[in-house]
Formats: sequence, structure tokens, C-alpha cells
Amino acid sequence: MSESSNRTVETRLRAAVESAPSGLLMTDADGRIVLVNREVERLFGYSREELLGQPVEMLIPMRDRERHPDYRRGFRGDPRVRAMGAGRDLHGRRKDGVEVPVEVGLTPVATPEGLFVIGAVVDISARKEAEAEQRRTAEQLRQAQKLEAVGTLAGGIAHDFNNVLGAILGYAELLELELSDLPIAREDAREIIVAAQRGRDLVQQLLAFSRQQDTARGPVEVPAIVTEVYQLLRASLPSSVHLSVESEDGVEPVLANATSLHRIVMNLATNAAHAVPSGGDVCIRVQRRFVQEPHARANPELREGWYTMLSVRDNGSGMNAETVARAREPFFTTKPQGTGTGLGLSVVHGIMQSHGGALEIESTVGAGTEVRCYFPQLNTAGAERATSA
Ligand SMILES: Nc1ncnc2c1ncn2[C@@H]1O[C@H](COP(=O)(O)OP(=O)(O)OP(=O)(O)O)[C@@H](O)[C@H]1O
Ligand SMILES: [Mg+2]
Repeated sequence: MSESSNRTVETRLRAAVESAPSGLLMTDADGRIVLVNREVERLFGYSREELLGQPVEMLIPMRDRERHPDYRRGFRGDPRVRAMGAGRDLHGRRKDGVEVPVEVGLTPVATPEGLFVIGAVVDISARKEAEAEQRRTAEQLRQAQKLEAVGTLAGGIAHDFNNVLGAILGYAELLELELSDLPIAREDAREIIVAAQRGRDLVQQLLAFSRQQDTARGPVEVPAIVTEVYQLLRASLPSSVHLSVESEDGVEPVLANATSLHRIVMNLATNAAHAVPSGGDVCIRVQRRFVQEPHARANPELREGWYTMLSVRDNGSGMNAETVARAREPFFTTKPQGTGTGLGLSVVHGIMQSHGGALEIESTVGAGTEVRCYFPQLNTAGAERATSA
């Protein structure tokens, strides 16, 4: 081959290496970098000048650096084309210290100066991220299916129970009337009525949980619902519980089911009141909130945008991390048997989900709890439904 056609071949080879989609780097017999392409510069954040002549270990996370010269020796002892670190998760270390998951193919090249190695480095962070996302989605789906099964079951039972309780209540009320001349027997009938009413409340929770009631929706003014619940609760809570309401001016109505909203406020405020058994503060607030991307990313139910936020805060016992993690599970309760059913928060969570909203629990043991419900603002909710339909 003539000198000039040699040069042409070399130019073409250089161009091919340079524009290869994989990072290509070559190391000499001592493991020093002698060639890199553009993708290596991009992937690791170093310039070519910073890399050439340096030990290849500079691209490897600290924890693997020490072992790497041994691996290199092993490769020289049995040089053949192969994947590096088969079966292990490999990472490259960028100049800024960030680790990138990679796959590396190794090719030995015999040269007069000893055995050189070409490493082809592929950035697999997008694939890893997609795999992780897939796992998260599968887990969420599994959780949703589990909840749905429990919901269907609970809903079925609750429905039948509701009829039974209706009969008990009806007859007990008749009995109470008929026993007007027998005060003691009349008292007993009253007890039956009270117990049946408690049962009916429970059944209502179950029905709400299975979402069989949650149908009619319209624009709902959250502050109005909060005031209603405030009045109901104020009368029933001991005076040592200081209950307050703060509604920001101009909060937009949310597209919701008024009964469901009522239930949310009731369940959250009841929990908060239970958390301050010997007195404390419970504050119910309604605000407009813009959720930013980093915050949204931390909660799979949230997306960046405007929300109407309903929050209930108390300065009570608080929850440890394990309780926070399990609090929205149906039937999870830390209350003594016969007092809590463990449905309160799961109902709230279910309602929030069916409204395209999100639930957030923040709690510190000994300091208190804030539970936040994010309702998508009306126009956003409409847009979302249109795109997901
Ligand atoms: N504000 C709060 N402060 C401290 N712990 C709370 C608070 N809210 C909920 N929890 C914890 O979460 C658990 C589950 O709450 P959830 O409302 O679902 O059920 P419950 O209150 O135990 O029973 P139910 O509401 O059905 O009567 C509670 O048992 C409690 O441990
Ligand atoms: Mg509760």
C-alpha cells in the first residue's frame, strides 16, 4: 500500500472510532490509556488530554480500584475477547465522582510493545433506570391489586351487613317506642341502637374503602367542608384539644365527591385528636400549593403542578418510620383491639387515589404528624382525564 492510501485508511479508522456510539479506549501493557474516543469523554466527563497516559483505574470506582490490577494480570494470562466482570454490576466513575452503570467488552490486541487492550464501554444507565421503573410499576400494581381484592371483599361484606344493621336499627327504634312505659327496658333498647349505629359507621367506612359509594362528583369548596367537619368535631372533642382551621383565600374548588371529602377530613382529624390524648393542637388547613419536580419525583402519586392541599397537623405522639410506612394499609392499626379498625387512613388513601390526588404523611415521634392531601386543581384534573381516557 502506498503511503497516501495508508493515511486514508488511518483517517477512516480514526473517524470510525471517534464516532462510535460506544466508548472506546485502548490501554497499553501497563494499563495506561493510550486512546479514547468522544463517547469516553462524554461518558466520564474528562477531556482527552486528561485521560491519555493515565492509569485506566482512574475511571473505576474507588472500591474496585485496588483489585483491578489483578484483573488486568488475569486478562493478560488468558487474553481473549470477553465481557468484563461477567455477572457483576460494573460502574464507571466520572470526573465529578458520580458512578455510571456500564457494560465493558474487552478485546486483546497483540502489539510489538506488548498486549494492548481495547475496552468498549456502554453507558447502561437508561436501561437500568427503565428496569428499576418497571420493577416499581410492577410492585405498585401488585399493591393496587391486593388493595382492590381487599376492597371488593370488604365492600361485599359491608353491603350485606348494612342490610342486617338496618333491620336491627329499625326494630330497636320501634322497640324503644313501644317500651316507653318501661324505662329500664327502654334504656336497653337505646344501647342496641347506639351499638347498631356504631356498626353502621364502620360499615360506611368499609363501603367508602371499597369505593362503592364514591360516584357523584362535582366542584367542591374544600374550606366549606372543613368548616362543616370543624363544627361537628368541636362539639365532640374534649376542650383540651385545641382545634383550628385555616383556609387560604381564593383556593380553587376541586372536582370531588363531597361525602368523600367530608370523610377524609373527619378521618384525619379523628386520628390527630387521638394522637393528643391529654390535649394538644390540631390544625386543619386548606392551601394552594405548587408541587415542584424534585418533590413530585419522591412520591409516585404526584406530578409537578398546582394542587389544592388539605392538611391536618397535630403536635401529638407522632409515628416511627415503620408505622408511617404501614399507616395506609387497610386494617393496620396500633390502637388497642376494639378501638381502631385501621381503616381510617386506607379510606383516605383510596379516596385520594380515585380523585387522581396524592397522600403524604410526615411524622416525628414525640413531635407530631402532618398528613397532606393533594387534589389536582380542577382544570388540570380535566386535562389529565382527557389524556388518560
Ligand atoms: N395523626 C396521627 N398521629 C399518630 N399516629 C397516627 C396518626 N394518624 C394515624 N396514625 C397511626 O396510623 C395507624 C392507622 O391509622 P388509621 O386511621 O388507618 O387507623 P386507626 O386510627 O388505627 O383506626 P380507625 O381509623 O379505623 O378507627 C394508627 O393506628 C396510628 O398508629
Ligand atoms: Mg383512624
